[in-house]
Amino acid sequence: MVIAVTLLVLAACSGGDYPNSTFLPTTDNNRDATDLWNRMMFWGTIVFVIVEAILLYTIIKYRRRPGGPEPEHVHGNTLMEITWTLAPALILVFIAVPTVRTIFRSQAAAPANAVQIEVIGHQWWWEFRYPEYGFTTANEIYMPHGRPVNFALRTADVLHSFWIPALAGKRDLISNRTNYLWFTPDSTGEAAFNGSCNEYCGASHANMKFRAFTVSAEDFDTWARHQAANAIFPPPVDTAAAPATVRPASNAIGMAQAVPAAQAAPTTVQAPTTPWQFPREKVPPHVLPQTPIPASVSIADAAIAAGDAQRGFTTYSRSACIGCHKIRGNPSSMGILGPDLTHVGSRFTIASGLFPNDAKHLAHWIKNARAMKPGSLMQTLGKGEHDPIMNITVQAGGLTDEQIADITAYLLSLK
Ligand code: CUA
Repeated sequence: MVIAVTLLVLAACSGGDYPNSTFLPTTDNNRDATDLWNRMMFWGTIVFVIVEAILLYTIIKYRRRPGGPEPEHVHGNTLMEITWTLAPALILVFIAVPTVRTIFRSQAAAPANAVQIEVIGHQWWWEFRYPEYGFTTANEIYMPHGRPVNFALRTADVLHSFWIPALAGKRDLISNRTNYLWFTPDSTGEAAFNGSCNEYCGASHANMKFRAFTVSAEDFDTWARHQAANAIFPPPVDTAAAPATVRPASNAIGMAQAVPAAQAAPTTVQAPTTPWQFPREKVPPHVLPQTPIPASVSIADAAIAAGDAQRGFTTYSRSACIGCHKIRGNPSSMGILGPDLTHVGSRFTIASGLFPNDAKHLAHWIKNARAMKPGSLMQTLGKGEHDPIMNITVQAGGLTDEQIADITAYLLSLK
């Protein structure tokens, strides 16, 4: 008893920071759920106290005493039977009415001004599409705070479940069906959150994570307009100094292809866009992945540092990469099986939130993705590496460390 009570007290008083808690009042959806939970706790506590009090009273008052009389035997009591039928029914009304009301509210159609985000679950990564802006990205969501966000949830293969614990309840991605989830992030400052898959979906279910960022409406607009623009390679030297005429015309043409017809109607050339990323210094430690690189994959730091983006562009554009990945602005890279890499350099993580997005991790990933993430559909590409799924060693045709470093430099230049 003493240990149990002590633990309870300690747990309640630790005063820790719980960034992945579901009880943070950060959205309308969250507040509805928390209100409901508090209401259940309130009524549940009252029922508990009354029932336990009657139980203790009965145990003590009618306990067996030496020489005590035989208890009175009774059979049937209409008043009591009606009471213990009506009382739970009444309690259920108190629970059911607010519950059903909250469920209906969370299932209602999103407000008309909501930002639309299409979520497509894949084994084992997340595809995010912004149809109003005409681009596709992966594993990272940006949302303007103060405006509802409507997620349309679908899966490309098996069941997954979409969850950002600090922002809203989870919702499943079900084959041949679209589920919806909407909420309004109302944090006033920039905030970064963890998201994950919560329906067992195979070998790397635990490695199917994503990140969500809430930013101001202006920053969101800057980010979205840049994401919608094609990748420009080589990257402009200085976005502030470079005049608009330096930008290739394909920027505007590519936009017209990517944007839905209704959005594309104005034929004005889009202004050059500025890369924008959530401020790195505001990303809390719990949002940055800490996964160690497996010992079986290695590539020397010096080799990675020698990577050349221009050579990488050429190598990438002739490699197996282009069969699965799309880079808008690189006409040879038109694959759709893997994540869209158009602005991959602007992301914080790779491999669905498993590793930080830097040259070291990206180079290891390209060398042997299947050793980095169990079951990865991306094949092992490094020459001499062992592919754990096909159980072969990559021979001729595999990428050398130098080529991997070049491709890494190219991809990271796509801000
Ligand atoms: Cu996707 Cu678990």
